[in-house]
Amino acid sequence: MERVQKPFKKIIVTIDGPAGAGKTTISKLLADKLGYRYLDTGALYRAVAVAATDRGIAVDDDLALESLCRDMVIDLRSSADGLRVLVNQDDVTGRLRTPQISMMASAVSARSVVRRFLLTVQRQLGEQKGVVAEGRDMGTVVFPQAEAKFFLDADPHIRARRRHEELIVQKGERPSLESVEKQMLQRDHNDSTRSLAPLQPAEDAVRIDSTHLTLDQVIHQMLDYIEQIQ
Ligand code: DC
Repeated sequence: MERVQKPFKKIIVTIDGPAGAGKTTISKLLADKLGYRYLDTGALYRAVAVAATDRGIAVDDDLALESLCRDMVIDLRSSADGLRVLVNQDDVTGRLRTPQISMMASAVSARSVVRRFLLTVQRQLGEQKGVVAEGRDMGTVVFPQAEAKFFLDADPHIRARRRHEELIVQKGERPSLESVEKQMLQRDHNDSTRSLAPLQPAEDAVRIDSTHLTLDQVIHQMLDYIEQIQ
């Protein structure tokens, strides 16, 4: 159902949660409805993973990662076909979502040199407010002052099924459901048990379990909350 919106004042909205919970689709839709920018922070970790892979950097080589980050300029550009990610002017968008880069992104995201570098990048990107920021630590670490925080979760089997479908429909890949679920659970484990900025709901986050909800229902819940706090 379409709802008529009045203009929203510019705030920071954060959406954290595990892989496959629907964060990306929902963040984009919500940003669109609010007239806000959409900040995909997973894409930043993925960009670092691509650059580290290209330079053959081992995930525990903090010195090499530090030097990589020092020389790295990541540019997020919106285009007609969605967000483009440039690393030192090289468009790496098409390489961000392979299973190998997903695992590498999760691994580099546990390193403090990488998190420190991206913390600055993310805060600069959120400076102007009017942003929907999606990730793992948006409400807890990067934007603790955000006015609206959501933690989006869903049953792991459902999340794996959604991710599996997405890979088949959007990417034309044919992985087994079991392999998608196994990798997703491994990533969840890495992301929520690391010592730095682990995936966890902020104390003041609104928790939404999307297992039995449609996209529309999730968006409505979020908009209701954002309208209340305007
Ligand atoms: O959201 P995503 O699946 O594109 O994120 C890829 C990896 O990046 C994820 O496994 C963990 C890491 N990440 C993070 O540690 N903190 C964020 N704010 C976003 C992503």
